[in-house]
This record gives sequence, structure tokens and C-alpha cells, in this order.
Amino acid sequence: MINSCPHNSDSPNEHLLHRLYALQQQFLHISPESMQQVAREFNLPVSQVVSVVEFYSFFYTQPCGRFHVLFSNCTSCGYLAGEQNLMLILCQQLQVIPGKTRSDGLISIDETSCIGLCDQGASLLINGLPVTRLNPDKIAEIAQCITTETPLAKWPAKWFEIQDTVHQRSLLLTEQFIPGSALQKVLTQGADETLSTILQSGLCGRGGAGFNTGKKWQLCREAPGNAHYVVCNADEGEPGTFKDRFLLRDQANALFEGMTVCAFVIGAEKGFVYLRGEYRYLLDHLHAVLNQSRQQGLLGQNILGHANFHFDIEIVVGAGAYICGEESALIESLEGKPGIPRIRPPFPVTHGYLGQPTVINNVETLIAAAHIAIHGSTWFKSAGTEKSTGSKILSVSGDCCSPGIYEYSFGVNIQQVLDDCHAHNVQAVQIGGPAGKLIGAADFNRTISFEDVSTGGSFLIFGQQRNLLTINRNFARFFAHESCGFCTPCRVGTHLLKNNLDKIANGRGTAYDIEELKQLSQLIQHHSHCGLGHTAANHILDSLQHFPQVFEAKLKQHFTAQFDLDQALETARQVTNRDDAAAHLD
Ligand SMILES: Cc1cc2nc3c(=O)[nH]c(=O)nc-3n(C[C@H](O)[C@H](O)[C@H](O)COP(=O)(O)O)c2cc1C
Ligand code: SF4
Repeated sequence: MINSCPHNSDSPNEHLLHRLYALQQQFLHISPESMQQVAREFNLPVSQVVSVVEFYSFFYTQPCGRFHVLFSNCTSCGYLAGEQNLMLILCQQLQVIPGKTRSDGLISIDETSCIGLCDQGASLLINGLPVTRLNPDKIAEIAQCITTETPLAKWPAKWFEIQDTVHQRSLLLTEQFIPGSALQKVLTQGADETLSTILQSGLCGRGGAGFNTGKKWQLCREAPGNAHYVVCNADEGEPGTFKDRFLLRDQANALFEGMTVCAFVIGAEKGFVYLRGEYRYLLDHLHAVLNQSRQQGLLGQNILGHANFHFDIEIVVGAGAYICGEESALIESLEGKPGIPRIRPPFPVTHGYLGQPTVINNVETLIAAAHIAIHGSTWFKSAGTEKSTGSKILSVSGDCCSPGIYEYSFGVNIQQVLDDCHAHNVQAVQIGGPAGKLIGAADFNRTISFEDVSTGGSFLIFGQQRNLLTINRNFARFFAHESCGFCTPCRVGTHLLKNNLDKIANGRGTAYDIEELKQLSQLIQHHSHCGLGHTAANHILDSLQHFPQVFEAKLKQHFTAQFDLDQALETARQVTNRDDAAAHLD
């Protein structure tokens, strides 16, 4: 197997992120000694190992509890899922401060960005395992299990169940996928014809940006290099998105075969699935499917007896960083570095993993490619619109009676989705996650398509009872937290946006702050280094345009500072021993 942590030919045959994770499992944190040990093992400067540990939010330099609980603070699985603050209830019951480990080392509780369980009610991860459908009663039972130090294996199994509900099926989810069927087809027709089929299908990326998939494969195939790579982006971090979680559980065969079809076209021998750390619990299942595929001759040497066609897939698990979904940051992370986006161009198709030509596709894109290989481009184009061929799988959550997975032909209108999921009295829908678009009722006739409202899959519904300013604040906090900090407009700007929204929500904002929000938003949009910064203010600009009354209702008539100016002079008054009228502001 090719070494997955490529800095040095004599580094261990284990990914750096996996080695660090293993040490953390053993010692409940990553100590300076552990970092030095890893630096020696991987023949890396200690500073590089430190930078990796510090970058990823799932690595801890201080000991966690033996039970480590992470509550999702996402708008959907947090704010919309329950009125009570379940995290604070558990903290109170276990006498622990959020973000700190209890002095006996039993428990630590913190919050984290969306964990992709938005259709499962309020949820948490405990030692990496999901517990769904939380309510105060279940929280009390969890507190009891922790207090008695009951091992997780003895907790009620149903607490850990994730119930996938597919409410609507279109092209991909109606077809039964028979392992090997795509590969048999492409091995018969050859790489050129397979590429033509993908090109003719008009398939565009399902991860958000919508780049033409056939074109991407073609550019990569034509790029010179020592080796070519296929990477599946399973980082699914956009709050409100969980369709890849479902596809990884339900359609792993089709995914791996889609990657193998791509490898056949571009001439790759090695592929990676970059799985978000929040989905680590899917690893056993994914490895089982991979092993079965190897036994069936669908992966490995001489695939299906075809001389010179060798390809295998390795899964690399991330460690809690939304930015690693951005393709160049993902490659950095695959290479065992902090996930800081690269300067582009050059693009991954020519300079990707290890500087070699690399195709990066979303889970759903690769599954669609496997189906297109079997059924052809005409079948695929039978659904969708002229520019948006095929179907789109949506993750529907928020204020509706039937959250879950919905697959539609492209071109479906928003009202249709709302009717199907039984959403009533809807104020607005956030499509494409916080980085996407906020759509009000006047625009519910708009369509899901690349021509109109495009989305990586997130479809978040807000009822009339919701305070949109609270939602904007939650999104702003998400971006401020997830900014990788590399460039100033995004690093500083996302925090200023958050502070400004807090100020308005706290009744201290004026018209001046609205102008400030607009200017800052534009600055971040136009001057940031990567897609995170370019889209981080979308939700604010949309809210200001479509729901200005939400902000205006909170404004004061006159300028107020973000802090109490008179109070800020208190220290000076004490030092000078003055408290007369002239020592105070009006
Ligand atoms: C901040 C950020 C996060 C992203 N997260 C994801 C993700 O979780 N999954 C994904 O497929 N694409 C994500 N993307 C888009 C990828 O950069 C890339 O365009 C995509 O993986 C390409 O695959 P596709 O052509 O099949 O859509 C993200 C982009 C940005 C800017
Ligand atoms: S825009 Fe934000 S996430 Fe992207 S490189 Fe700059 S700081 Fe990092």
C-alpha cells in the first residue's frame, strides 16, 4: 500500500491524524511528549506536529473526561431541535463547567459545530458515538449512566440508533445498485467511451460549486504526473447537511465503484475517502464494504481480471474542521498538515495530492457517476433541466413534520419541497447552509437548480415563530469559529460580523451598525482567500435585503458604543480619586 502520510519515505504506514487520534484515545489528550514522539516517528519537525494538533478542534492538549460529550450547536440540530438548553442541564446534573473537565477526570462537556444529525432531533456525540433524539428525560438517564461509569457498550442500544428516512426518491435512490455492474460496463466499453458518457450526461458536482464532472475528469486525465489520484470529499460540514451521512451508510458500494470508474478514466491507482471526524462511527461499516469489494475483485490488483487495472481506496478521518471540506484544504489535511486552503490556480486537477493530478468529488457526485456508467447519459438527462441534469438529494430539517432525505429532479420548486415535508406557516428557508441563500415566502416558487437556487443539499426551514436575528447570530458564530485564520478579512471580519449582530440583538445597535454590517460583509466577500470567506456574509446580506424589519425592530435612534463608555472610565476615576460630575460622561 502507498504510504498515506507522505512527508518522508521512512514515516510509518499510518496517517498522521490517525496516529494523533490513537494517542489521544490512550491518554485522553495529546501531551508535549506525545507530540515529540510523533515528530520522531514521522521524521517531522515538532513545530509541524504542534501546528496540526492546534489546528483541529477534535485534538486536545489538556485531558478530556473519560466520557467526553460534544453537543451540536448547529441552528438545526441545536436551536431548532429543542427549546431547552440540554447541554446546560447535563452540565448542572454532573456538576461540570462547559469546556472544562471535572476534577475527577470523569466527564467533560462542550459544544461543537453541526454534527450532521439535523434530522434526528437534538443530538450529541459521546466518545465519538452519536446519541440522538435528546430530551430532558434522556439527559437525566445519560447523567446516571455517566455517574455510575457504565461503559457505552452497556447503554441502551437504541439511544445510538440513527433512523434514516427517505421520503422522496428520484433517479439515484430508486435504482438498486448491483456491485460490479458499473465496472463491468466500463471495462467493456473502455475509458474513452466512459468519459464521453459522463461528459454527455452533463453531471455537475453535487458538493456545492457545481463544476462539470466529466470536464474535471478530462482535465485530470490529460494532466501530466507521476501518479493520479481520486478523492471523495465526505467532509460534509455545512450545517443542515446530512445526505452524505445517509449515502455513506446506504450506498457505500455505489460510492466506491464510482471512485473506481473515475480511477479507470483518469488512470489512478490510489483513492481516498476523506471522512469528517464527526462521522467516525461509520468507519467499521465502510471498511467492511471495502473488504467485501476487495474479495469480489472490485478493488485491488487486476480488477475484475483486467490486466493493468489496479486501484484501492483508503479512508482518512478528519478531526473537526469545516474548512477541510474546501478541496485544497482537504488535500493539505490528507497530506498530514493543517487544513489551510491553497492558493489556486493551480487547481487540484493538475496539482492536487502530493502535487499530482487529482480528482476531488462529492459523495453524491461519485454515486451518480456509477449509475450513469450503468444506465447511460440519456437515462440521466431524462430528469432535471437543460443546465441541471439529473436529480439532487436534499437534507431537509427544521420546522417541518417530516425531516429527512428527499431526492428530486432538478427544477423542483421550493414550495413543492415544503408541501412534501409538511412544513406549515413557513417564514423562510435557508438553502445551501449558512453559506447559501435565505429565501422568503415571496420566492418559494423559485427552483432548486444550478440556474436558480443551487445547494450542496442543506434545506433548513424556519417557521414564523423563529427569530431570524438569532439564526443570523448562530451562523455568524459558526463562521467566526470555523475561519482557519489564514487571511485577515475573514479571520477578523467574521468576528466583527458576529460582534455587530450581538450588539444589535442586545438592543445597542443603530442605523450606523447596519451600514457597518453591509460594508464589512462586502469586504469579506471580495477580499477573502477562499470560499469560506466569500460566502460567510451571504446570510446577513440576504436577511438585510429580505427581512430588514428584523433588524430595524432592534435599533436605537442614536449611536451607542459596543460597550458602556462611562463604565469604561471607572478605573481612571478610581486612580484619580474623582467621582464628580465632570469625571462622568453625560
Ligand atoms: C468552506 C468550504 C467547505 C466545503 N465543504 C464541502 C464538503 O463538505 N463536501 C463537498 O463535497 N464539497 C465541499 N466544498 C466544495 C469543495 O471545495 C469542492 O468543490 C467539491 O468537493 C468538489 O466536488 P464536486 O465537484 O463533486 O461537487 C466546500 C467548499 C468550501 C469553500
Ligand atoms: S477565507 Fe477564511 S477560511 Fe478561507 S483562507 Fe481565509 S481565513 Fe481561512
